[in-house]
Parts: sequence; structure tokens; C-alpha cells
Amino acid sequence: MSKISPEIKRKVEELREKINYHNYLYHVLDQPEITDAEYDRLFDQLVQLEKKYPELVTPDSPTQRVGAGPLTEFKTIRHSLPMLSLNKASSQEEFLDFHSRVLELSGTDEKRIKYAVEPKFDGLAVEIVYENGVFTLGSTRGDGIIGEDVTQNLKTIKTIPLKLLSKSAKVPKLLEIRGEVIIPKKDFEKLNKEREKKGEPLYANPRNTAAGSVRQLDPRITAARPLGMFAHGIGLLENGKLSSHSEILKYLKQSGIRVNENWKLCHTVEEVINFYEKILEIRDKLDYELDGIVIKVDDFALQNKLGGLSRSPRWAIAWKFPPQQEQTQILDIQVNVGRTGALTPVAILKPVRVGGVEVRRATLHNEDEMNKKDVRIGDIVIIQRAGDVIPEVVQVIKANRTGKEKKFKFPDRCPVCGSKVERLEGEATYRCTGIACPAQLKERISHFASKGGLNMEGLGYKFIEQMVDLGLVKDPADLFYLEKKDLMKMERMGEKLASNLLKAIENGKKTDLPHLIYALGIRNVGEHMAQVLAREFKSIDSLAKRKPEELTEIFEIGPIVAQSIYNFFHDQKNLKILEKMKKAGLVFPIHKEVTKKTPITGKFFVLTGGLASFSRDEAKRILESMGARVASSVSKNTDFVVVGENPGSKLAEAQKLGIKTLKEEEFKKLIGK
Ligand code: IVH
Repeated sequence: MSKISPEIKRKVEELREKINYHNYLYHVLDQPEITDAEYDRLFDQLVQLEKKYPELVTPDSPTQRVGAGPLTEFKTIRHSLPMLSLNKASSQEEFLDFHSRVLELSGTDEKRIKYAVEPKFDGLAVEIVYENGVFTLGSTRGDGIIGEDVTQNLKTIKTIPLKLLSKSAKVPKLLEIRGEVIIPKKDFEKLNKEREKKGEPLYANPRNTAAGSVRQLDPRITAARPLGMFAHGIGLLENGKLSSHSEILKYLKQSGIRVNENWKLCHTVEEVINFYEKILEIRDKLDYELDGIVIKVDDFALQNKLGGLSRSPRWAIAWKFPPQQEQTQILDIQVNVGRTGALTPVAILKPVRVGGVEVRRATLHNEDEMNKKDVRIGDIVIIQRAGDVIPEVVQVIKANRTGKEKKFKFPDRCPVCGSKVERLEGEATYRCTGIACPAQLKERISHFASKGGLNMEGLGYKFIEQMVDLGLVKDPADLFYLEKKDLMKMERMGEKLASNLLKAIENGKKTDLPHLIYALGIRNVGEHMAQVLAREFKSIDSLAKRKPEELTEIFEIGPIVAQSIYNFFHDQKNLKILEKMKKAGLVFPIHKEVTKKTPITGKFFVLTGGLASFSRDEAKRILESMGARVASSVSKNTDFVVVGENPGSKLAEAQKLGIKTLKEEEFKKLIGK
């Protein structure tokens, strides 16, 4: 064995410390200080050194997240303290009953009771054991007493540190933390989109997917899933001096473990009720699923006094939200034809209220999904409506079948225009091949006129439907050629309304490049992508000239988007429509955003600390849109350092170099916000 110099050892230690620190900033505090590229460089250096000196590899090194090969089965382990479950309340009354019981059993004055309240995450419960600050064992909850050893899998989750952070506090000999493994909603949707593209069956929901991912025998599969964890409690803690749940949460965060930021210490029941209402209100905006809140008596002495039943403690309760799933019956199945000709099966439902909204239709996604779930007309099903997402059929309750249910045969012709439908290889969706399909046309024109497109106010779907059915428009450009006498052919049309619609159509011509690109309805080009394209290419003509390989050079543009753009501008029909729009007086806008000179054009910025009004990304985008450059470290070329909450070392560096620093307010003024 070669002798390893102390410098190398120090270098490896230093890299690990740095990487752990940046992991913490990124995953726990959500305030990264370096770019992903810089992080990758640090990581890479460590990988290289460990490759050269394998003796230096330790199990808590950040490189060891996917270290082991697949297992044939999981070992079981016994939790040192049982992982309990929670009693449930489903109304305010039930919560108040709980509160009365707490008062009664503890014999305490109401004023002395504090509750720590937090979201109830909908994921998989796990326990992680740290011995002398190092992650040694990870397990599932199992039946609460015995769980499965999923150490290798949990080690792949980046929000779980392999080593506890310790600043001044001593590292505990033993710390068992408990938490919930989840998949963020956005990542879940992305995962399913990718699966849909590949023609693979979709995952049902983030919870089951998270649970299934943790229980994979091959950790490499787990590592590929976008898992995260929120810690919500502890098991054993040796040499710790904590006396309340709120102290635990603070302690965990300090130790580098991610704790959800939406928790609160409440001093009255009213505060608890307000918290419940607030979380219910923001629930859909949060990037993880939750099914209620958990209310815990904060003080440990009081918790002990209250004790528990064998399965659940008396000092805590889960106050559940009203369900987002309901049962109803499928009355019929129809096939909807979208803008791109995609055929989507839709269940027509016996109306049912879900989370306060009446639902009459739910998507069945595509033929494969429908077959996988074996959905039939007449079935009793569970449907789900969450936030802005289109309601969907989750599951058939087969036990309720009577035998009268009818299978649905997916059509081989477009239900609207009768053209053949085709399914491209590797795609889950069928598409109508009809070039003049009125259903596609209606959707395309409606997209063209929509708010994100040319924003023709008042031109709703009902009008567009009639225009297409009466043969007044055959493509989006035809809108610009409509005359009043044409519009007067439509039902319930008056002179005034017709003039207003014509005005709205005319106003659509005063658009900018991002809106026009979006309006064209190029496949896979949404509002954000339209902005990226406008910024990069500045005009339709320049965009239309690009080859796929030139397009993919741009960050954010992948091969699929690139091909869609290329195909769009190489389709004669589309080019004709564009010509027709020009002839009608639509001047193709030139994008001026970046070329316009602003007071900060060409200036170099560095951001440090958290800003209250913007995320790091937003601030960066705004600056770049004004022609400024954003660098990740301070140098003598830096013009301004924007300083937010808890700034990092960059502030000191800026001061050392005498670079101008801006507080958030000054920054906002500078960018005119
Ligand atoms: S505390 C004795 N806090 O819900 C207290 N649990 O029904 C035990 N859960 O298995 C748990 N979010 O996995 C607690 N903020 C939270 C939670 C939470 C989700 C899960 C937990 C447990 C189940 C209990």
C-alpha cells in the first residue's frame, strides 16, 4: 500500500466538508451558494482522489450514496423504540375533543399547553440511525416494531446527510431520526411524462411511487428516482438535552437534516385552527403531497405524562384534510381530440363533489392506462382531483361489478373527422392523421387566441367552435380575414359583439415574440420554452432557419423540442399559414429584450444569501433579461454583490475587494421592481 501524504488526506477531508456544506445549503436551507457546475467540480475532484486512493474511502463520504449492488431480499430490523401511528381527527370538533382530553389527562391549565403543528406528509415512514454522527442504518416503519433494512436505498437520497453537521455542539453517540420519504409533485409529473413518452405505464401517485422506490432491491433504481425526505421526529437520542418537539425540529435542522419549514409553535387552539386553514389553503401550491396536519403537545414532560396506547400516543393527533378522492360511477367513455391530434379517453361521470368542486369528467390518460386499470363503462371508480390538475380516474372498484359493465373499444378512426388514427412507435398516445380535422382545428385556434398566445380577449371556445363548424376559419390565419358579415352568421351575435370580437382579433397583432411563438402551437413548446426561444433567436425567421443540432446547443432545449421546432418550420402547410398571417398585416416582432440597453447592461453581478421577493433563479433571470451577467463567485470584475438574508462568505470577499454591495431594497430599485 502506498503511503498517503497528509496533504492528500487533508484535501480529501476538506472536499468532503465543502460538499457536505453545499449539500446542506442546497437541500436543507434551499439557499445554494455555488452553481451546479461548481458543485460537480468539487464532487469530481473527490471521486478522482478516492479512485486513486481507495483506502481513503469511508462509508460517510458523499460519494458513497450508491455504493452497493442489488440485494436478493431485505433484512428485517427491530426499531429500538416502536414507530407509533397517530389517532385521527377529521373535523374541528374532533380536534377540540382531543384538546379537552389533553387538558383533562394532564391536569394542566390551558394556558400552559403549547402545540407544535406541522404538515402530515403523504409518503413512506422511515428511520435513520446516526452513530457518532454517521448514517449507519436506515429502515422502513414496517409494522412499527419490525421494519426492513433499506440502508443502501436511503443513502441514495440527497436530502438525508450521510454525516451530521456539527458546529459547536457535540455529535451525539446515537441519534435516530424519523421522517417521511416523498417525491415532489413536480418531479413526479416529470417522471410520468417521461414514462408516457416511452409508452411505459404511468405511476399512480407520488406516495406509492416513493414507497415502491425505497423498497427496491437494487439501490441504483432508487438512486434514479427523485426522492426527498422531511424529518418529523426522533427515536432514541443519547447525550441529548432536548425538552420539547420544537427544540427537536430546530436541532435537526442545525444538524443538517431537512425539516419542513411550515411548522409552528401554537399557544392557543385558535392558532392551531388557523394553521390548519392556512395549510389547507396553500396545499395545492406546495410541491409535496400532504393529507392533513399533525398536532403534537410540545413539551416532553407533558408528553410523558399523557403517555400512549400501544399503537398511538395520547399527546398527538393527525387532523386530516377533506379527501381529494371520491367514488362515483362511469356513465360513458368519450374520446377527446386535442390540438395536436392526440386522442384522450375521458370518463363521463355521475357528478360528484371532490374537495368542494363538482366533477363530471375525468381523464383516463390513454389506451394503455385504461386497459391497465381495466376501466369499463358502468364501473364504480375512485377519482381524484388535486389542485389545478385535471381530475383523473385512479382505480376501479372491481368488487362492485355487477357483470353489466361494458368494455370500451378504443376507436381506430378519429371520432370527429373520421380519419385514421395512428400511434407512433414508443408513444402512448394515438393521434388523428386528418389534416383538416375540425377538432384539432378548434383546439389550435383556441390556443392561438388564448391569453398565453395572441390574447384575443372575448374570443372563447364557443365562438371558435361555431366559426369552424360554419367553415368561416380553416386555419388560425383565417381569423385575420374575418369580416363583420361573417361573424353575423353565428348564433346569438349582435353588431356590437361582432365589432368587439374583430377589435380583439386586430389587437392580437400587437403581440411580442414569445407570445407569437407560443401561439403557433409548436409541439412541446410551452410558454417558458417560447420565452427561451425568443431570447435566443430574436425573430421567427431566425428560429425557422435552425437545424436541430443548432437548437440543442441552447441550454434547456432537448432533442425532442428541437425536432418539433424543426418539423414545424419544415411543414409547407405551416409556412403557408405564416405567410397568410403576414399578408393580413401581422408584423412578426423582433425580440428586443436583451439588446435594449439598460443601466446594468454588461455589468457583472454575484448573489449571496436568500432574497425575500425572488428565488435565486428568478433574480438571475431578471438580471440576464436586462443584459447583466451573473457570476457565482466574487472577483475583481464583479460590479455588484446582492446581499440577502444569511449571506455567505461572498459578502466578506466583496468588502475585502471594495465591491459595491446592494441590499434587497436597493436591488429592487435598480431593476425597477
Ligand atoms: S409523528 C407518535 N409527524 O403519519 C408520532 N408523523 O399515522 C408519530 N407522518 O407513520 C409520527 N407526517 O410516517 C408525524 N409531521 C408528521 C408526519 C407523520 C406524516 C406519518 C408517519 C406515521 C404516520 C402516523
